[in-house]
Amino acid sequence: MSTHRMKPEPTRDVQANNVVSPSPEAILRAVELLRRGQVVGLPTETVYGLAGDGLNPSALARIFEVKRRPLFDPLILHFADAAAAFDLAEQIPTAARELAQRFWPGPLTLVLRKKEGVPDLATSGLPNVALRVPAHPVAQALLRAFGGPLAAPSANRFGRISPTDAQAVRTELGEAVPLILDGGPCAVGLESTVLFLSEHQPVLLRAGGVPVEEIEAMVGPVQHATPVDDRPQAPGQLKQHYAPRKPLRLVRGIADIPSQPDTGWLAFGPQNAPVPFCGVVENLSPADDLREAAVNFFRALRALDDDPRVGALYAMALPARGLGLAINERLERAAGAGAAIP
Ligand code: TXA
Ligand code: MG
Repeated sequence: MSTHRMKPEPTRDVQANNVVSPSPEAILRAVELLRRGQVVGLPTETVYGLAGDGLNPSALARIFEVKRRPLFDPLILHFADAAAAFDLAEQIPTAARELAQRFWPGPLTLVLRKKEGVPDLATSGLPNVALRVPAHPVAQALLRAFGGPLAAPSANRFGRISPTDAQAVRTELGEAVPLILDGGPCAVGLESTVLFLSEHQPVLLRAGGVPVEEIEAMVGPVQHATPVDDRPQAPGQLKQHYAPRKPLRLVRGIADIPSQPDTGWLAFGPQNAPVPFCGVVENLSPADDLREAAVNFFRALRALDDDPRVGALYAMALPARGLGLAINERLERAAGAGAAIP
């Protein structure tokens, strides 16, 4: 994208450390930047986002550029409330209203037919738009102060591990983001559940923070979209995603994890290490709690990836229910194309 780069106003006052606490002044500063087509690091309850003016094509182009994200992968638009979100949708099925009532603000994204006027860059030219109302108080404060939709993909380079704290945003995107609002560690830790709703059966495009069982309990059976290798029909379905730099291997049992100093083990539950185990362990939840595992997942993956002692990462599937399904999906994609939980 560098040759045809749409240039937003340059930022003259980039600080050495662009991570700031979300004071009222910082929110105003963020609004100012957003109005000028700049991008801002934003805490949400799921993961940190890279936010830009959802209705400004040059701000949207800047998001794709900073993330190095392919233009075929559309963005989620974020709103302060359901009324503002539905205002950009053409048809709103009853199921959408019911799910919004129950899960917004919160980690659910609804994909609906878009109204004219939603920029093509936001939807990658698709006839549908992804809508979400985040619950994090800082996201809410910024959305209200800005007064319009914010496009916000996860604030990582394309294909990499999603950031669940402000420092991880800085590590991922560095100086390219003039301001990162520090809202503390994310309470959910996994991205929102993405659900496509039309006159047909709902389609799960991404498992996430709202377990699919809870959605099915309200609207009946949900169809599951399948991952693909290259240009996805339902975008966001690429097989390789959330990837560490080091190899990640999915194994069936503890016996398959080599007890070597350079082994990084992403563990779960009160599992006993292979004896004697001399690698590095990050336990997602010693107490066997899937919510806690979700909160810790990206942080732990990043910690092992960044640990100089570790050469290769190992993990086993988590229990296939609730948030465990969403974590397993991320594990498979982090392990790369073709990897499946054994
Ligand atoms: O929790 C979240 O959703 C976070 C926070 C920052 O809000 N955002 C996030 O955005 O995860 P991103 O861009 O990393 O993932 C958005 C997903 C992608 O899989 C994308 O393909 C899908 O949503 N998506 C967006 N718009 C779509 C559309 N119009 N049709 C189908 N899928 C869409
Ligand atoms: Mg992402």
